[in-house]
Amino acid sequence: MSWSASEWPAKLTHIPPELVCVEDYERLAAQFVPESVLAYFSGGSADEHGLVRNRQRFTARQLYSRVLADVSQGSTRCRLLGQELEHPLVLAPLAYQGLVHPQGELDTARGAEAVDACMAVSTLSSYRLEDIAAHSSAPQWFQLYWQERRADTLSLLRRAERAGYSALLLTVDVPVQALRNRQQRSGFQLPAQAAANLSEFASPATVELAPGASRVFQGIMAQAPSWQDIAWLRQQTDLPLLLKGVTHPDDAVRARELGCAGVVVSNHGGRALDSLPASIDVLAAVRMAVGAEFPLLLDGGVRSGEDVFKALALGADAVMVGRPQVFALAVAGALGVAHMLRSLREELEVTMSLCGCANLAAIGPQSLVNPAGELSCCV
Ligand SMILES: Cc1cc2nc3c(=O)[nH]c(=O)nc-3n(C[C@H](O)[C@H](O)[C@H](O)COP(=O)(O)O)c2cc1C
Repeated sequence: MSWSASEWPAKLTHIPPELVCVEDYERLAAQFVPESVLAYFSGGSADEHGLVRNRQRFTARQLYSRVLADVSQGSTRCRLLGQELEHPLVLAPLAYQGLVHPQGELDTARGAEAVDACMAVSTLSSYRLEDIAAHSSAPQWFQLYWQERRADTLSLLRRAERAGYSALLLTVDVPVQALRNRQQRSGFQLPAQAAANLSEFASPATVELAPGASRVFQGIMAQAPSWQDIAWLRQQTDLPLLLKGVTHPDDAVRARELGCAGVVVSNHGGRALDSLPASIDVLAAVRMAVGAEFPLLLDGGVRSGEDVFKALALGADAVMVGRPQVFALAVAGALGVAHMLRSLREELEVTMSLCGCANLAAIGPQSLVNPAGELSCCV
């Protein structure tokens, strides 16, 4: 099914009482965007085992409640990358949000600002990074995809600095795209010129492959960034640089040694290799490897305040929320994004209260049933 934008139903202007949790937005989104667009945003890679696993591994974990604790001075405040945040919920970078809402990332930014949430803006946003920055006074980070030409990578970086972004996330987990079966079956096609930030760059040069050369190794991967490029990028900016898409503890350690300011433990929401572990399953091992002080974020399957709590208990300093933001945007624009984030925050506060944790520092493996099992399942 494909709709022209004028056929799209109007977005909700109030939140109906039956919309009670984050996952309700995904169900409702089907009424607001065409099926193939939903397939693009909802889908994972290949047979979607990784996508499913991200959720299963959150729900498999159980919490100990602690009764009669005094949390009357409780708070979700935290400090991350030198910034004071009201809560540890960050919007993950999600491409092409103009596909679900005419205002795209501009509305997402407004929604995030309304609830003091930090937003990471994708290189592949539908609106220019400068315009998105102008729509929010809340902290924003820029997600960088390495470009074929260094000058283009540098140009994006300088624009992000000038626009006031306070951190840079370099996404390193999908230099070559994994299979996207659901998306392909749906017939999804990106509109031309969908990525506003890249419109001024010349089209990528066509690589002439030698006879017998591999399209993947000598073609796509020959353009991909390496550890040397991370060292180079570090020298180009004073912004904190985080690597997004790390699952192996040794890669996280290498990032720290190269002067990165943190890493995002992530399997790209089940859109990289289908056999990657759930990001929550490798978090404790990454935390052990990098030490207590190194900033770690986690994304992949976070859908409730209890999920946020579990990620913090296993060593994350903050979590990123991916798909729920576009589903909320599709249903109710900035209002939906703000409501979705507020619901998550309140669920986190309820979970903290019932687990006897008055602040984020009090959350730890002691709240999880079988924390020893957590560590033995790590790489
Ligand atoms: C449709 C879609 C587009 C995405 N676009 C980007 C992107 O442009 N840059 C990036 O670093 N990650 C991108 N991601 C990955 C997210 O930042 C994040 O890692 C993932 O969505 C988290 O999982 P969740 O959706 O289960 O919360 C995308 C994910 C989806 C589903």
